[in-house]
Amino acid sequence: MALSSTLGLLLLLSYSTTLLLLCNANPIPGRHRSPINRHPRSASHNYRDALTKSILFFEGQRSGKLPPNQRVSWRRDSGLSDGAAAHVDLVGGYYDAGDNVKFGFPMAFTTTMLSWSVIEFGGLMKGELQNARQAIRWATDYLLKATAHPGTIYVQVGDATKDHACWERPEDMDTPRTVLKIDQNTPGSEVAAETAAALASASLVFRRCDPTYSKLLVRRAMSVFAFADKHRGPYSIGLKKFVCPYYCDYSGFQDELLWGAAWLYKATKNPLYLSYIQVNGQILGAAEFDNTFGWDNKHVGARILLSKAFLVQKVKSLHDYKGHADSFICSIIPGASYSSAQYTPGGLLFKMNDSNMQYVTSTSFLILSYAKYLTSSRQVVNCGGTAITPKRLRAIAKRQVDYLLGDNPMKMSYMVGYGPRYPRRIHHRGSSLPCIAAHPAKIQCSSGFSVMSSQSPNPNILVGAVIGGPDKNDKFPDQRSDYEQSEPATYINAPLVGSLAYLAHSFGQL
Ligand SMILES: *[C@@H]1O[C@H](CO)[C@@H](O)[C@H](O)[C@H]1NC(C)=O
Repeated sequence: MALSSTLGLLLLLSYSTTLLLLCNANPIPGRHRSPINRHPRSASHNYRDALTKSILFFEGQRSGKLPPNQRVSWRRDSGLSDGAAAHVDLVGGYYDAGDNVKFGFPMAFTTTMLSWSVIEFGGLMKGELQNARQAIRWATDYLLKATAHPGTIYVQVGDATKDHACWERPEDMDTPRTVLKIDQNTPGSEVAAETAAALASASLVFRRCDPTYSKLLVRRAMSVFAFADKHRGPYSIGLKKFVCPYYCDYSGFQDELLWGAAWLYKATKNPLYLSYIQVNGQILGAAEFDNTFGWDNKHVGARILLSKAFLVQKVKSLHDYKGHADSFICSIIPGASYSSAQYTPGGLLFKMNDSNMQYVTSTSFLILSYAKYLTSSRQVVNCGGTAITPKRLRAIAKRQVDYLLGDNPMKMSYMVGYGPRYPRRIHHRGSSLPCIAAHPAKIQCSSGFSVMSSQSPNPNILVGAVIGGPDKNDKFPDQRSDYEQSEPATYINAPLVGSLAYLAHSFGQL
């Protein structure tokens, strides 16, 4: 090798090492100052511990080749041939919940919410910031593979029906790793626009610490969004047999187009996205009544995000989004006459029987983010003539997080491994079956079901996993077969990461 190219290689190596170091560095102190941090108060919860665990959880959901610094050590490599069925590399990414399918739609939403958590509250995370970035990168590295071929997006690996017919560790799985894709003949605007949102939001996370990666993400986000918008249609029709009822898109793809455009505008500042939002906002449901924010419906997320552009970045043409955001916030204030949200007797926001906690974490995050925007612009929420202050909003969000962590009638933390009492029989294949180190022999598809239906506690503690949670009467049976209440999911944790960073910081724990 010639000296000049050796030197070049060395320079290149040191350059990428610097970037890596920057990405792993702690933020500059004092850049994000909380208005209530002057007098740290005593907290009933260790939010910092919960934050650490909420991020650690993502390592337990990893698919693919695990790195040497993998901390959840009972997990091993899995899905190393994913994509082979379509002659593409789709190794990596996350299992969405307690099964072994890689569903692109909720994985993309998870990524967007993890990124938003870091964008709003990453400056407060201290040493956890690098772990949060790693959790995002594990997803974006995969989403870059899934979108590597222009005009095609690989949106799922695994056959959910066949996967669900087994109770197998991911390391053992032998069900078909069916590869599903969308393209112009089989469009999927919801999954494509959510993927664009994920890539765009993550580009903001890496903008300073890894500009090359960030640019790759944002360029890909732009082309993926263009594809989503040009070839409109729901994947829930073209791929119905595979994606429904698991992650069937019930709310339509309009919400994802609005949400995707909002993230693209935020990531690029390109006025074309702003005019897209202005022209299409109403048609895409900017003022829709629905106040449920989750992997399916992003309308209220888009409202809060666009209200930030108006309140914080002073984009005057988006002034309507302050009203849209206010009407959402008013609809969830507990006990208020203008509110339409249901709460359990113990005080938990209750939207649905199945995986209710995802709405608790997503809504709390939106409330805390909105409180931040209102504070920076010295505004309040206007609910039918009544003013709701940011302070009140923060108290409402804190109450939800505190309930989740144990302040509830069951005296139960719904985060695994946090506090003295937490769910022991979560609906999660890898957590419930003995790990490879303890039981190296393969556990066949159906032989795992005897463990699933048993009363024994899970041998592997999936630390940080937040599960579906109690029913509408605050009851929680801790039954492994009960996926509605006992299954964790990546999109339950993702927005919680941001809220916990905020709470840990405001109580002087970070
Ligand atoms: C939710 O659970 C209750 C029982 O707690 C049941 O009566 C109701 O039908 C369930 N709702 C849905 C939509 O499944």
